Amino acid sequence: MQENRPVIALDFPEFSDVKDFLEKFDPSEKLYIKLGMELFYTAGPQVVYYVKSLGHSVFLDLKLHDIPNTVESSMRVLARLGVDMVNVHAAGGVEMMVAAKRGLEAGTPTGRQRPKLIAVTQLTSTSEEIMQNDQKIMTSLEESVINYAQKTAQAGLDGVVCSAHEVEKIKAATSKEFICLTPGIRPEGASKGDQKRVMTPKEARTIGSDYIVVGRPITQAKDPVSAYHAIKEEWNQ
Ligand code: C5P
Repeated sequence: MQENRPVIALDFPEFSDVKDFLEKFDPSEKLYIKLGMELFYTAGPQVVYYVKSLGHSVFLDLKLHDIPNTVESSMRVLARLGVDMVNVHAAGGVEMMVAAKRGLEAGTPTGRQRPKLIAVTQLTSTSEEIMQNDQKIMTSLEESVINYAQKTAQAGLDGVVCSAHEVEKIKAATSKEFICLTPGIRPEGASKGDQKRVMTPKEARTIGSDYIVVGRPITQAKDPVSAYHAIKEEWNQ
């Protein structure tokens, strides 16, 4: 399932920055917003309620990783916030991921859809060397990513966060329907920032990404609304 809106990563330190950003858009424009740890730890559930009250969709990127019982009860709470997507670390294991899904199901208000649940495989900041030295996973990074994706599918989750470069292999190892949400997207000619392996929205569409996450090329643009529309257009070409 390909989502036609790019997911905008609002990596801002303050609630007021979120308001300032969203006020630039026409109220009829319904966006898909990614809120992360920094903002959630500062502003808490209020920021989620605010974004939802404007009719936008929310991916709450908190990357839960704890014992199954704690993750299950936390997911129950997050489902009640009305978010549309949440995530966990696949390294927490199949049992933890199953518990996460159970928690979400239990917390979803009647008549509403369960938020989508995806898993982080290996963080892109983890190199093969770091993985082998620190985690003592003695395979290639790619094998580890594929293994985590398969465990995620086995646990009944909806998909993974991954590099656009991994989408084809992950879908081949799981299923076509398995969601691949890909950050590290840069429009043609844009600054890469600290992202090393990037893809354009158009390339990401071609290789089968279901959702693209774009932060700074929109949030730091002179005109964020036109930057968003240009990226959306390229993604939907
Ligand atoms: O500003 P930029 O487009 O680089 O933001 C990408 C977003 O996706 C950030 O919120 C970043 O934390 C997140 N992300 C990433 N790479 C991953 C996982 C998440 O860039 N592997």
